[in-house]
Amino acid sequence: MRIDELETPIGVVDLDRLSANIDRLQSYLDTHDIDNRPHIKTHRIPAIAHMQLQAGAVGITCQTLSEAEVMCSAGITDIFLPYNLLSKAKLKRLMLLSRRARISVTADSAATVAGYADAASQEGSPLPVLIEMDGGCERCGVTTPEGVRQLARQIDSASHLHFGGLMVYPSNPESNAFMAESKMLLAQDGLDVERTSGGSSFCMWQAHEFTEMSEHRAGMYVYGDRNLVDASVMTLDDCSYFVLATVVSRPTEGRIVLDSGSKALAADSARQSPGHGLIVEYPESEIFKLSEEHGHVDVSRCDRKPEIGERVTVLVNHCCVSNNLFPRIIGHRKGEVELEWPILAKGW
Ligand SMILES: Cc1ncc(COP(=O)(O)O)c(C=O)c1O
Repeated sequence: MRIDELETPIGVVDLDRLSANIDRLQSYLDTHDIDNRPHIKTHRIPAIAHMQLQAGAVGITCQTLSEAEVMCSAGITDIFLPYNLLSKAKLKRLMLLSRRARISVTADSAATVAGYADAASQEGSPLPVLIEMDGGCERCGVTTPEGVRQLARQIDSASHLHFGGLMVYPSNPESNAFMAESKMLLAQDGLDVERTSGGSSFCMWQAHEFTEMSEHRAGMYVYGDRNLVDASVMTLDDCSYFVLATVVSRPTEGRIVLDSGSKALAADSARQSPGHGLIVEYPESEIFKLSEEHGHVDVSRCDRKPEIGERVTVLVNHCCVSNNLFPRIIGHRKGEVELEWPILAKGW
């Protein structure tokens, strides 16, 4: 069966490009002696995680416990969960998981560390906890080297925790310098920093410049999307993930409607380009608005106007969020359907 025969909207993955993306980053990181710990929140599919491990990844990164539970059940044994896990229910799940796989987590506050220490006190082997540092995106993370030192002392003194190192997102020159300064302070305390974890696909080809980082976590590099193409990190021909859509209406000469709205393309705006994705066959068009099941497209600048019933290929703005909206994904080679993967690792 050809992908043009599939019902739309549907997410499809070019398996040759997927493998090439996995191999390209692995070989770059190998060349620079940086451990690869890909983030699976992009694809959420155990089979792809296994491809990444077979290529040489040292383990995987998950953002949610559910992702980690699914990956663990699929036989993956080294999982990093860089997220502040709070609440008794989540900590209980974390402890159950840590009996089945090598799990490491992060904390950026005394409260999170206290929760881990309490939960881990019943367990035989200590839980590795890395400190999350703010890499400049003003999300989570300790913001000063002195703050890192205080938290490291707390982790180190908790009998059932193990100080596992430092983690930052994203890697950049500032976060690299922050890491260097923090390592110097920790050395004064006699604390060994065994792992320094940096990440993001946007900076993946600069990973070797962040000399303080021992491992890199990229997620989106397996699929690619409009943001990565806009940032010249990947080319359109590298991208493996697209949403196939159908033109369901052409109310005016200059406007068409796709059967793909925010529930297929995802509502994330692009960092640079206008609109909600690139229609590959009509690059002059703009998906200017999304309703749930409709993509509103301005085609006034296109010489040839798409016909009702015509199928188009959309490069989405943010592949992780679009992929997460589908229950399954179709793998193909040169348009010939080869497999169907359920997107198993969903939820929190
Ligand atoms: C903690 C963490 N590490 C790694 C990544 C992967 O980065 P990217 O999405 O740029 O591939 C993310 C993405 O959000 C992240 O939050």
